[in-house]
Amino acid sequence: MLDHIHHYHGSGVENMTGKNSGGKDTAPRTRLSVRIDSYVYPDGTNALSAMALDIREGEFVGILGSNGSGKTTLLKVMDGLMKDFKGDVLLDGMDIRKLAPKEIYRKVGLVFQNPDDQLFASTVFEDVAFGPTNMGFPEKDVSERVKSALAAVDMSGYAKKSIHNLSFGQKKRICIAGLLAMGHDILLLDEPTAGLDPMGEYRMMHLLQKLNREDGVTIVMATHSVDLVPLFLHKLYILSKGAIVRGGTPEDVFTAPEEMANVKLRLPHIAELIHSLKHKDKLPFDKLPLTIGEARREILKVASKSKD
Ligand SMILES: Nc1ncnc2c1ncn2[C@@H]1O[C@H](COP(=O)(O)OP(=O)(O)OP(=O)(O)O)[C@@H](O)[C@H]1O
Ligand SMILES: [Mg+2]
Repeated sequence: MLDHIHHYHGSGVENMTGKNSGGKDTAPRTRLSVRIDSYVYPDGTNALSAMALDIREGEFVGILGSNGSGKTTLLKVMDGLMKDFKGDVLLDGMDIRKLAPKEIYRKVGLVFQNPDDQLFASTVFEDVAFGPTNMGFPEKDVSERVKSALAAVDMSGYAKKSIHNLSFGQKKRICIAGLLAMGHDILLLDEPTAGLDPMGEYRMMHLLQKLNREDGVTIVMATHSVDLVPLFLHKLYILSKGAIVRGGTPEDVFTAPEEMANVKLRLPHIAELIHSLKHKDKLPFDKLPLTIGEARREILKVASKSKD
């Protein structure tokens, strides 16, 4: 559906291997290298402290953390919007502070947490068309891009609607359509599923997964959707009080309810259930499943053991 949208920049995504980072020689290149010593807001709030993370080509990465833990601040630093940090942030090896906004926006797109900070045109069409028009696409291409992007977020038929009259979840979708219509190869998304209905949340994750897998778009998203994370994301970073406290695959990160509670998060519900069946009810689970599918397999194993 979005095929034509994502190939105009010829970003070399053909070598993208997604989840398989392979051996040392074939490891995907680092697109964003983040080394922050600190970020302090003008009012003295210390929002980020020592942290290091690399975002590689083709990764689909989640940033989890409780309210005020620094997710939005980190995404804004990664998008070059906040330059007043101590440390180094490199986009394709170049100091993000020295890049012109145009050079950043050709590669990286940020979807704000609050859609009212992002949307500004009067109609849906005008808003989604703004980016591709500004990038110099001919009118006909712009219309095509807007159409595909609206279809991708299930908002076909809303092109003429006034932005002002959209519901919150619809506004979120339009913000994402606006970015899709531009076709960046790195997307930073600040809670893209917040405020969406359950089906919309799932469909949004699917859409992002498709962009990641099929079009090679590198994605970093801040999220509270703990239950969906293990189904979709390759890697997670847990932020607490402006620092990364854990990082790795969902299996590496989601290990025990207590550790999550310490950073005001929780495990996926299904993992919480199996964890208590194992530890409180002493059922012999070998591993902690993170998804309903895995849990079903583990439960069937335990059930068949108990029959023996
Ligand atoms: N413009 C600002 N000026 C001063 N302090 C700020 C500003 N924006 C954020 N902060 C503070 O920085 C810290 C990190 O905020 P941030 O918005 O990055 O958190 P978050 O993880 O995105 O939270 P949420 O889950 O609520 O979106 C918080 O303590 C917040 O109060
Ligand atoms: Mg935030």
